[in-house]
Amino acid sequence: MTTEITIRKPDDWHLHLRDGRILHEVLPYTAKHFARAIVMPNLVPPVTDIASAEAYRERILAADGDRRFEPLMTAYLTDNSNGEELSKGFQLGVIRAAKLYPAGATTNAENGVSDVKKIYPVFEAMQKANMPLLVHGEVVGDQYDIYDREKIFIDEILSAIHATFPDLKIVFEHITTKQGVEFVVQADEHLAATITPHHLLINRSTMFRGGIRPHYYCLPIAKRREHQLALRHAATSGSSKFFLGTDSAPHSESAKENACGCAGVFNAGTALACYAQVFDDENSLHHFENFAAANGPNFYGLPLNDARIRLEKLSSPLPSPDVVGLERIHQFLPDTPVYWRVVDSDE
Ligand code: NCD
Ligand code: ZN
Repeated sequence: MTTEITIRKPDDWHLHLRDGRILHEVLPYTAKHFARAIVMPNLVPPVTDIASAEAYRERILAADGDRRFEPLMTAYLTDNSNGEELSKGFQLGVIRAAKLYPAGATTNAENGVSDVKKIYPVFEAMQKANMPLLVHGEVVGDQYDIYDREKIFIDEILSAIHATFPDLKIVFEHITTKQGVEFVVQADEHLAATITPHHLLINRSTMFRGGIRPHYYCLPIAKRREHQLALRHAATSGSSKFFLGTDSAPHSESAKENACGCAGVFNAGTALACYAQVFDDENSLHHFENFAAANGPNFYGLPLNDARIRLEKLSSPLPSPDVVGLERIHQFLPDTPVYWRVVDSDE
């Protein structure tokens, strides 16, 4: 039985760091375990251009006292996005990718894109610049059942984007369905996907086990167990099209434990232990390093990290983690035991 593994230091290819005090409170949890992260732009107001991405990057670096962590900035696409500005930001190395939120799809997505066709000229410019498009893959509207939104997005929107812009690099973020897995597997090498630790470890029943559990609520919402199993198979299969993206999305205790609770799971500190548990359960620890530390940088065309991180398997499960910061942000653990923990990492 494997009881210890050492892998390259991972990167997080989908992360919400927020701003202000919460940024200071949550950043250390990411910086401890991850060398770099693709930082989501859904602030209020959103990060949409070179100046706001640069300013946000500076605030993150200032919050990371010892400057070991490298934030990779993204821009939020709106109906008014300018392809020239975005590709200029990409060429300067300030903006690493642009994020498509269908308007209203999730937390702080009010300014997202109302009709994807309107920004096809932006995709054209991004394709030309070789700039990745990151996609929140859900349709929006009361006519769509919340559990069907990812599948319909694939059929009605994502397939068309991929077919119209065959050379555009696309990351289908935080996939949650077997249809998502199948779409990525059959697509060519321009399309890849991130998978979160929580979608590997919970399913929609977990949210209602013994009562309603708001800390397991996120978007896209966890689906049926058969989808969870498809995600576990994809993540641990050794395919280079799937890689680590935590979607760590901190919200205060009062925003989560609320009559209208916010979507988002804060998992920055527990994610690696959770992923290791999944790879161990699936007898695939030999594929863990590529999922966590190679497939992502290879897709983005970035070098691999040299630093290493060591994880060990404990004889008893991890206890409930601390609640973080003044606003009491709860850290994710599944309701099944996790025996792995990060022991140490070099710089
Ligand atoms: C994210 C957030 O809170 O910013 N919430 C979530 O449930 N994942 C937004 C997002 O990525 O959908
Ligand atoms: Zn997210």
